[in-house]
Amino acid sequence: MSRSHIIKGHICHAPEAGRLEIRENAFVVCEDGICRGIFDEVPEKYRGLEMADCTGKLVLPGLVDLHIHAPQYAYRGTGMDYELLDWLYKVAFPEEIRYEDAEYAAKAYGIFAQKMKKSATTRAAIFATMHTDAALILSDEMEKSGLISFVGKVSMDRDAMPELTEKSAEQAAAEARRFITESAARAYRRTKPIVTPRFVPSCSAELMAELGKIRKEYGLPVQSHLSENPDEVELVSRLEPEAAFYGDAYDRFGLFGREGRTVMAHCVYSTPEEVRRMKENGVWIAHCPSSNMNIASGIAPVRRYLEQGLRVGLGTDVAGGTTESMFRAVTDAIQVSKLYWRHVDRDAKPLTFAESFRMATKGGGAFFGKAGSFEDGYEFDALVLEDASEPTARELTVRDRLERAFYFELDRVGIVMKFAGGERIL
Ligand code: GUN
Ligand code: FE
Repeated sequence: MSRSHIIKGHICHAPEAGRLEIRENAFVVCEDGICRGIFDEVPEKYRGLEMADCTGKLVLPGLVDLHIHAPQYAYRGTGMDYELLDWLYKVAFPEEIRYEDAEYAAKAYGIFAQKMKKSATTRAAIFATMHTDAALILSDEMEKSGLISFVGKVSMDRDAMPELTEKSAEQAAAEARRFITESAARAYRRTKPIVTPRFVPSCSAELMAELGKIRKEYGLPVQSHLSENPDEVELVSRLEPEAAFYGDAYDRFGLFGREGRTVMAHCVYSTPEEVRRMKENGVWIAHCPSSNMNIASGIAPVRRYLEQGLRVGLGTDVAGGTTESMFRAVTDAIQVSKLYWRHVDRDAKPLTFAESFRMATKGGGAFFGKAGSFEDGYEFDALVLEDASEPTARELTVRDRLERAFYFELDRVGIVMKFAGGERIL
């Protein structure tokens, strides 16, 4: 498949903090999967490349979902009348138990991967369940989808339902290794394993220590949950009294940034000490506003995190979050930041559209390397978006068309082309 193309259209991206760059009727060039920048005229040396003439349409970087649970996709939009710990036991865990059954997993993950393919997301960090064989089925499906993803077999050896608890730290570590070596044997081009302790309440110190060794040995990134809900934070302080704060229970085992990449979902209740450690260790935060509303977790102080120079991306966190729409995640992040400003902290200015768009593209993209922007040298992930389904009598600027496309969730109906890593997948 060709990995060199030129797209003509209204090119929109956010290379710098707080600012959109919009180049109307311009050309974005992809050579061998790598973006070569935006041009008003096609440079001589690229004139032979295949051209997609999308004049009048919006062209934007693919969106990056930094936190989503594939096995929870089956029940999205239901089971929302709980807080986190009850929700896990009453809704999430009973569904995840079903992934013991490879046939169910194949059906559910097939649907998930198809929906992700059609979405605005080009890159994602994905949780499977604790079942290694099902996690490999998910990896196969994601590879076929064309998205670029990290897939994690979830590690959990305590405090869940018996059918969803690995029998011992040793067995859990052996399964984590099997997932990694089996993923490597399948020689995926787009899909990589990621070390995935579910969260501190689900993982014994012995298992955390093993996962820390595995992370180091294979040089893999890490994903987990952090400071999502008050009862959860309290539970962690009881279970791990030696940890100085929640994140320290990961850091003690080398599972909290530093030499390896780590993304932690939520960070609604992170203490100043925890925030300092995240900054020092270069931990990414996956802000998941839809989930934080649905299971009543609260509002993460994202403005503060941005001011302090932390790395922040957005996640849908399906099925705490309702939908895989990253357009919706962008507007949810803005909307909750307005409530936070109005009701919690009048010094925490609401997020702007440009800021939220940037978190969803270049912010989360950094977890994958150079992704989420049309700057020279970035991996080429792009969407071409048609917004004519929402007519208006008014003349709209391209900037306005982009903003309203997000508020109207036109990623559901308007994506006419999609590229990930330079390859056209839609
Ligand atoms: N914490 C531990 N597991 C989960 C999960 O599946 N979803 C969310 N939102 N938080 C968690
Ligand atoms: Fe989650």
